[in-house]
Amino acid sequence: MKILGIESTCDETSASVIEDGKKILSLQTASSADIHAKYGGVFPELACRRHVEAIIPIIDAALKEAGITSEEIDAIAIAKGPGLIGALLIGMQTAKGLAIAWNKPLIGVNHVEAHLYAAMMSSNTAPRFPALGIVLSGGHTLFLHIHAIGHYTTLSTTVDDAIGEAFDKVAVLLGFPYPGGPHIEQLALKGSSKKGLFSAGKVKKNPLAFSFSGIKTSVLYAVKDKALSSQEKADIAASFQETVFQDVLKKAKLICKQIGANAIYLGGGVCNNQRLRDIFMQNLTNTAIFWPSKDLSLDNAAMIAGLGYHKFLENPQGESLQIQPSARISYEIARSS
Ligand code: KG4
Ligand code: ZN
Repeated sequence: MKILGIESTCDETSASVIEDGKKILSLQTASSADIHAKYGGVFPELACRRHVEAIIPIIDAALKEAGITSEEIDAIAIAKGPGLIGALLIGMQTAKGLAIAWNKPLIGVNHVEAHLYAAMMSSNTAPRFPALGIVLSGGHTLFLHIHAIGHYTTLSTTVDDAIGEAFDKVAVLLGFPYPGGPHIEQLALKGSSKKGLFSAGKVKKNPLAFSFSGIKTSVLYAVKDKALSSQEKADIAASFQETVFQDVLKKAKLICKQIGANAIYLGGGVCNNQRLRDIFMQNLTNTAIFWPSKDLSLDNAAMIAGLGYHKFLENPQGESLQIQPSARISYEIARSS
């Protein structure tokens, strides 16, 4: 079964053809990160303009790369949210238009759920449940109890910034363009993490919740009006990164114990960070840890088409064409959307 996936939730326009939920026949992605670089974060209006220009050529390129025509597609999977509403509308309207023109079912897919599915797609073994799902991206910091594909309970999230957003803002303070995560990772390699320089955010009465605004402000005060040497900057990057990742690890360990999970699926752009991967692999030796392959960590349509296959099996008729995208979606995914 071949599913065409379309992703346009933020600054990537992506299309992919996936066979039977796993085999990547094609993946084409255009990013507008270059135009956001100088703003330190995604500029929604500019992202939308790029989506409009890129979406049809990217879909054409994905079909071409897969070596198939539109007739050979079984369904069209579209990321229906969460994300930037203008960006979502462009993807949704395009997908609806194609569903009508090609007479194919339309499958709405939750982008965050798809980030977790990316780790399942990247593994050769069948998914194991119950598992802990961790999404660490520019828009999300989310811990979910995965009962099965499509069945989740939210366990923890952030009360302010998302983790990737914190990386992006700290990167701006250290003089880097958007997206800042990869710059922080590279700079941290040249520094050493100083114990006590920063501390992880704490949320009153909710020990499992995340908060990143405090550490971001601490970094601001560490750099503001100071003539820092490049070594001092590298130490700040390393200390920030280490504090944040140790916080993620600590909560992951607690939650795994709490829900009796011996598998963790991770997803989202921050999972491209090798230090995060090392920390998890070194400290959770009795837990099976599943990462997305690096090209499936960042926003991409392969994960949308992959998860779309499972949704299609559940509901072969697909969605009504009245379906609307939504900037925010509950993560009690199976029950609410
Ligand atoms: O999953 P993604 O492409 O988009 C969202 O759904 O938000 O994630 C993008 C985020 C950005 O905040 C970016 O700075 C961060 O992932 N990121 C990283 C790394 N690569 C990307 N953060 C830390 N280390 C990295 N190597
Ligand atoms: Zn994402």
